Amino acid sequence: MVAGRVRSRRRWRRVVRVLEELEEAAATAVGRLRQVVDAMAVEMHAGLASEGGSKLKMLLTFVDNLPNGLSEILVKLDGVGICCIDIQHCAILKINTVSSGVRKEHTMLSILEELFDFIASSLKKFVEEEENISELSQVKRRELGFTFSFPVRQTSVSSGILIKWTKGFAIDDMVGRDVSECLSDAMSRGGLDMRVAVLINDSVGTLALGHYHDEDTVAAVIIGTGTNACYLERADAIIKCQGLLTTSGGMVVNMEWGNFWSSHLPRTSYDTDLDADSPNPNDQGFEKMISGMYLGDIVRRVILRMSQESDIFGPTSSKLFVRFILRTPLMAEMHEDDSPDLRVVAKILRDTLEISDVPLKVRKLVVKICDVVTRRAARLAAAGIVGILKKIGRDGSGGITSTRVKGGSQSKMRRTVVAIEGGLYTGYGMFREYLDEAVREILGEDVAQHVILKVMEDGSGIGAALLAASHSASSVDSVQ
Ligand code: GLC
Repeated sequence: MVAGRVRSRRRWRRVVRVLEELEEAAATAVGRLRQVVDAMAVEMHAGLASEGGSKLKMLLTFVDNLPNGLSEILVKLDGVGICCIDIQHCAILKINTVSSGVRKEHTMLSILEELFDFIASSLKKFVEEEENISELSQVKRRELGFTFSFPVRQTSVSSGILIKWTKGFAIDDMVGRDVSECLSDAMSRGGLDMRVAVLINDSVGTLALGHYHDEDTVAAVIIGTGTNACYLERADAIIKCQGLLTTSGGMVVNMEWGNFWSSHLPRTSYDTDLDADSPNPNDQGFEKMISGMYLGDIVRRVILRMSQESDIFGPTSSKLFVRFILRTPLMAEMHEDDSPDLRVVAKILRDTLEISDVPLKVRKLVVKICDVVTRRAARLAAAGIVGILKKIGRDGSGGITSTRVKGGSQSKMRRTVVAIEGGLYTGYGMFREYLDEAVREILGEDVAQHVILKVMEDGSGIGAALLAASHSASSVDSVQ
């Protein structure tokens, strides 16, 4: 009896040690976050100074005017049929069918063609359905806003070369090819008469929609499967493109911040292992600590380690070795389980990881792991946001002017809005709370009250359509 209790206490101590090590390695005290803020701002400068000057690519987008409320009127007046398409959703659908086994003999190139043919045919179906229900059937040629949520070196607002895949995608033949051309070719093959009016990153679409609703929107952040940010930069600050002429004197820069790296990032052994096992090691380090593609898998790795160090989860389940088996939405459900006996945690452990009958104490431990991983992710994203604000002088470091008012003084700083899209922020309450809290902590309440983080539901899609409208052939014609 006594020996059993001693053994069980020892086991528990080992597990607590694993948790403490995780907490220590993943710690994000505000001092550490401020170092990340500074590093982000420094890397932004470096990425703008020269090509390859930083892990932050700081890509030009050729979007130099963001839509405002007026554009909607233009769209209606022009009567142009605007569509938008987000390749990530199509691609996931298609790649899943392709890789489900039947098509093994196909080369990657044919998969690529198939992928774009699939996108073109989905688009055609959509257009045909829409024609049946709207007056847009009169429209001769439609304009397309094409959201492509991967790093692209733009050659114009409507064309660009894929630099690399991220988020687990890997069709090598596509790298170095013009993304719009691939889609245009597929549309011609499918007999669809459409022009790619804009090719944009999802973050840029989100910024466009954000700006359309609120002209104080200066940056946009995506925190979904992947993570990224873009912001409005002064053209003369983009040193690597000297003499860049834009109509507004500014341009949206796609940071590709998923690839940000700094020695100040609180990295754990689980991150190192996840990175080494990924198809893109040494790449997208920030993204791998923050985004939905990875958080669940970090949690799985911690549980696996605990299970190997003790038997509190019973015999180590073979499921714990399966990468990405614990998806982030499931992790979020466990984290937010508010039933007194943590029923949801028990269910997910049982159904997904085949770990049954764990006592409440162990279920609480699982919730704690989710908390540590999510809190770190959200706080790092917050530091990234403040890094952008610092770069553009909206972090209050230039001082807040105080004016005396009756009964005290009132502080003044330019109102600054950051648009945010992506399931982690919009659908995962704890993540959002941690992020909002960290922004306030880093900036201080006085400054933070002027910074508004605004959810942009489907920002990338609608924003793409808005940008397509403002770059459509007919609106260009009407200007000329
Ligand atoms: C990845 C992509 C980036 C995209 C982000 C969010 O980081 O590289 O282009 O914006 O995911 O979807």
